[in-house]
Amino acid sequence: MNQFTPIQFSNGKLILLDQRQLPSKEVFIEYDSIEGVYSGIKDMVVRGAPCIGFTAIFGMAIWIKNHPDFKLEQLIKAGSYLNEARPTAVNLGFEIQNVIEEIKRDQLSSDKAYERIVDLGFQKIAKSEEDNRNMAKTAEAELDSRLGQSRYKILTHCNTGFLACGSVGTALGVVQNLHEKGKLENCWVDETRPYLQGSRLTAYELNKLNAPHKIVVEGAASFLMKNKMVDAIFTGADRIAANGDTANKVGTSNLAVLAHYYNIPFCIVAPSSSFDTQIESGEEIQIELRSAEEITKYNGQLIAPSTSEAYNPSFDITDGKLITGIISEKGIASGNYLETLKAIL
Ligand code: MRU
Repeated sequence: MNQFTPIQFSNGKLILLDQRQLPSKEVFIEYDSIEGVYSGIKDMVVRGAPCIGFTAIFGMAIWIKNHPDFKLEQLIKAGSYLNEARPTAVNLGFEIQNVIEEIKRDQLSSDKAYERIVDLGFQKIAKSEEDNRNMAKTAEAELDSRLGQSRYKILTHCNTGFLACGSVGTALGVVQNLHEKGKLENCWVDETRPYLQGSRLTAYELNKLNAPHKIVVEGAASFLMKNKMVDAIFTGADRIAANGDTANKVGTSNLAVLAHYYNIPFCIVAPSSSFDTQIESGEEIQIELRSAEEITKYNGQLIAPSTSEAYNPSFDITDGKLITGIISEKGIASGNYLETLKAIL
């Protein structure tokens, strides 16, 4: 695993790399209560759908350790509490449910339950590294069969690398794999206002990988696409509905609309833990609204008139019809997602 893994667990404590302070400072924060873990997720010390899910597993382990005589109903209640930390990424609820199922199935004693859940967290992170490497190869094969170039210019949005996934990334795993094979001409990194996951985090990761990249403002997307400076777009996902509608960082759907206009492949790369096929369409996905101050202030300094209001939806829904392909560890789906997703999951 990468030495800069954002999630560590040792001696009963969860240690998170404080992503709010990147790229200028690499600071770690320790957690030993579920309330602490809740605030670590809510305040975005840790973020990115897969990492939110892994953090929740360790948060549940800590709760179990702190409640040696727990009853199943109490564990379920603790899970519901943690699940409230952020609403859009389905990975949070998915991994909490996995913890509950694991305990229910084997009716484990408290000590055993704690150890089992800590192991589960580590296993999930390790498995995701393997899955993400496979997804990257699927994406590479797809690019080669669609475009057949020796090198590619990729555009990505938000952050989907090891900071979001615990090890190799999803969409950024595709970029990493192309770079390792000498097939990456450039990665355009969307700055990703207002939280700057692109310029602060993705660029930080690409520097560590020594991969060629340039940061752009989101508004440059049409210019880049019109001038043939983008061969394909890869992003991650926070929740994918049965019809392929995909929630991801706000600004993702703008890219898909433009890519459709300019006839550029737009692909989602996400593990099956980000799929929520219980819901039919994106209309059922709750979009997190974050504080207006993320827009009007930077580093505590006002960058807008103090009398102006701001509106800050943190995610948007990309219409499945605009998505060229959805790549997961189970395969690639495209076209009529109601059928093709069902076939791979
Ligand atoms: O608000 P964030 O930083 O948690 O949003 C993250 C994203 O939107 C990512 O693109 C998504 O979680 C996929 S991470 C592999």
